[in-house]
Amino acid sequence: MYGLLVFATLASAQQPQQPRSSRRDVADVYASLCANCHGPRLEGGMGPSLVDDTWKSGADDERIARSIREGQLTAGMPAFSGALSSQDIRALVIYIREQGAKKRNEGTAFARPVADKVVNSERHAFKLETVAEGLETPWSVAFLPDGRMLVTEKAGRLRVVEKGRLLPKPIEGTPEVWSRNQGGLLDVAVHPDYARNGWIYLSYSAPGANGSAMTVLVRGKLREGRFVEQQTLFRARPEHYRTGGVHFGSRIVFDGKGHVFFSIGERGHKEDAQELSRPNGKVHRIHEDGSIPKDNPFAGREGAIASIWSYGNRNPQGLARHPVTGELWEAEHGPRGGDELNRIEPGHNYGWPVITYGMNYDGTPMTDRTAQEGMEQPVLHWTPSIAVSAIDFYTGSRFPQWKNDLLVGALAQQELRRLRIEDGKVVHQEVLFKDIGRVRDVVSGPDGAIYIAFNEPDRIARLVPASPVEPASGKTRDTKP
Ligand code: HEC
Repeated sequence: MYGLLVFATLASAQQPQQPRSSRRDVADVYASLCANCHGPRLEGGMGPSLVDDTWKSGADDERIARSIREGQLTAGMPAFSGALSSQDIRALVIYIREQGAKKRNEGTAFARPVADKVVNSERHAFKLETVAEGLETPWSVAFLPDGRMLVTEKAGRLRVVEKGRLLPKPIEGTPEVWSRNQGGLLDVAVHPDYARNGWIYLSYSAPGANGSAMTVLVRGKLREGRFVEQQTLFRARPEHYRTGGVHFGSRIVFDGKGHVFFSIGERGHKEDAQELSRPNGKVHRIHEDGSIPKDNPFAGREGAIASIWSYGNRNPQGLARHPVTGELWEAEHGPRGGDELNRIEPGHNYGWPVITYGMNYDGTPMTDRTAQEGMEQPVLHWTPSIAVSAIDFYTGSRFPQWKNDLLVGALAQQELRRLRIEDGKVVHQEVLFKDIGRVRDVVSGPDGAIYIAFNEPDRIARLVPASPVEPASGKTRDTKP
């Protein structure tokens, strides 16, 4: 104890005091300290533009942070290490990234496919066809072997699209959901051996005591328009339910070897994501009947929830198995900045909220820590956030040049992206379309088309191949990984 005290005193004597985080909106910090020289819109003045994608001192986050911290006195850039904390400087880097992306997007003609209009993308031309309308906030789509499509509506209805027609009556007998804010009926998944066993899996937010709620996983069977033989596979203990309407997760994925993976967001209680005694902020793995695999990473640990497969996950709304390697890939919403794509390994810690590439929604800094020993780095992060939602690998044959590419949906940025992945790394990204609705779910369909659940406006649509048009009418642009 004494030794530690001496050390602390010495350390503070030798190093200049780090300024405290200002807790100010980064836009105000920029306006008061930087706009004079770099311009109110970051487009330059006496100092260079910070949104033109050219960096004299290096383009990576650390170089930009260093420019701000240490300055370039002879050239007229003051050093801010005395005035700004490293958290403030991190927030400024995120802000510079946001403004840069905004500027780039303004200058780009993204594809905005409308009915029967062909889009020429990098590798395939495609059309977007409407499959079903008249739905309310469709959240997830899944296919039965006979070609019928199941659709969840967030308000708590399970719908069926049969031979291209939305059946007017929802399936009866599905669980009562807590439908508020981000909560409701969420994912639907069909067991890979459905033809033999008939199991359909649903995840939803269930009400608890005193206005609390938590994500629940059930399975059941369809019989004459009803959801029957329901079994609860995962339900948190009552004391683990959380108040607040955000971050429920949740996606369901089978590994074909008898396991089910599902995700639960941290429910807006970020510190819970690091607690192995709590179910939120995690990816879970159970057997298909809800029992706990003995070889789960925390199965034998005192106080830990045995179904936990990974932790430190903020709000994972994307989960998919790589069709070749079998790895589990996950996408989670970051705060403002720091949306993540992760490769999930058993027992690993994905860092939230200790490390993140994002900041608070109100523009105040969160942390300057983006990496730490014992915590996984994302395969990729989107800063600024795109509001990453569902992901799925393309496994069909109608778009052969997209084989095994990862399709990524985005809510706020209203995008569908295609990511090429080689050796576990994203080597290329393409925005296939943008600004035609929030992409809530994306599924590589059994017929080789790509099915998309859109919100605002609410509908299900699919991408199908088309013959390219000349001249290119819907030019898309590369975005750097
Ligand atoms: C007094 C004018 C002035 C102010 C105030 C100022 N800058 Fe600069 N800044 C400059 C100049 C001039 C340069 C170019 C330095 C050089 O050529 O090496 C520069 C360079 C930079 C660079 C490196 C650009 C590159 O191409 O690598 C960054 C990043 C930067 N400034 C950010 C900021 C931020 C953030 C603030 C506010 C906290 C700020 N600056 C405030 C004048 C200023």
